[in-house]
Amino acid sequence: MSVARNVLLWASRNKWLSHHFPRYRFAQAAVRRFMPGTNLDAALEAAQRLRPHGIGTVFTQVGENLATLDEARAEVDHYLGVFDRVAELSLGTQVSIKLTHLGLDIDPAATTENLRTLAQRAADRGTALFVDMEDSSYVDRTLDVFRSVLHTHGNLGLCLQSYLFRTETDLSDLLLETAAIRLVKGAYREPAAVAFPKKADVDRSYEQLGRMMLRAAADHPGKPKPVFGTHDIALLGRLAKFADAEGIARDAWEIHMLYGIRSADQIRLAQAGHRVRVLITYGEQWFPWYVRRLAERPANIGFVLRSLVAR
Ligand code: FDA
Repeated sequence: MSVARNVLLWASRNKWLSHHFPRYRFAQAAVRRFMPGTNLDAALEAAQRLRPHGIGTVFTQVGENLATLDEARAEVDHYLGVFDRVAELSLGTQVSIKLTHLGLDIDPAATTENLRTLAQRAADRGTALFVDMEDSSYVDRTLDVFRSVLHTHGNLGLCLQSYLFRTETDLSDLLLETAAIRLVKGAYREPAAVAFPKKADVDRSYEQLGRMMLRAAADHPGKPKPVFGTHDIALLGRLAKFADAEGIARDAWEIHMLYGIRSADQIRLAQAGHRVRVLITYGEQWFPWYVRRLAERPANIGFVLRSLVAR
């Protein structure tokens, strides 16, 4: 792992930076590349701009770990409102949430109820709810809460990370249980005991797990839907070729990318008949999330520096 990436991942957890950096105007300008704005209205407007291109959306509000269950309840209330607004505008937008934002560090039982409440509202509004995967210390707890709600709500999807050694087993166990699995490479700083340290191995693991998901989709059409959360165009191309060879229809799997990354490819892929969704992040507490995006590609620091010069 590069030194720059390590420093950025450290910075993403630094409370002093988290408090001070977002106050600078250049920082606010730089974050606009990845975030249309800090509130739900900005996300809704961005979703409406993407719709004519045939691109769907997924919303998530940034925020880090919570201190009280009241804060978790406020998150739930926020997302209940999101599902209503999205339905009013017929956007078909899905929501993706972190279980720590629903109270996982405080009370897993309350978190389960919070997730159930959101899954029910998503179902009532005819859409789906995704659960993000956080660092490796949360995987077991995330799976437990996810499975408890999955029994009653089939519209739940889960994110799995190809950098973790355990993911192949988790994927095999979940393949026939869940509505959708969103495979990503993984964004956290993990020890070599649990995750591939080399990017080439993470990429190889992604392709192998992706093929497993596509094969399952071929054998059991409609369940679970493979969702590839990546901007790795070459890798997506190889998976698309594999899907075509297996006779899997293009609308039987999806590509999810982040807002502001590879935007031209998002449009090109949608025009080529792929199901594409863009994950739009918004919210006031954007610093840790933003620095993790920089860590994924330290060359992005150039954008921050250019914003500083252009101030
Ligand atoms: P890779 O890092 O190989 O990048 C491929 C190419 O994409 C790069 O060469 C570059 O051109 C472009 N690119 C990638 N990241 C960029 C960036 N930040 N800025 C500019 N260009 C960039 N992680 C996690 O641990 N838990 C989760 O729940 C999620 N959820 C999630 C949802 C969705 C929809 C996406 C797309 C990603 C996530 N992630 C995530 C993040 C994921 O784990 C991973 O860190 C990033 O997607 C970057 O990896 P890529 O797969 O894009 O490949």
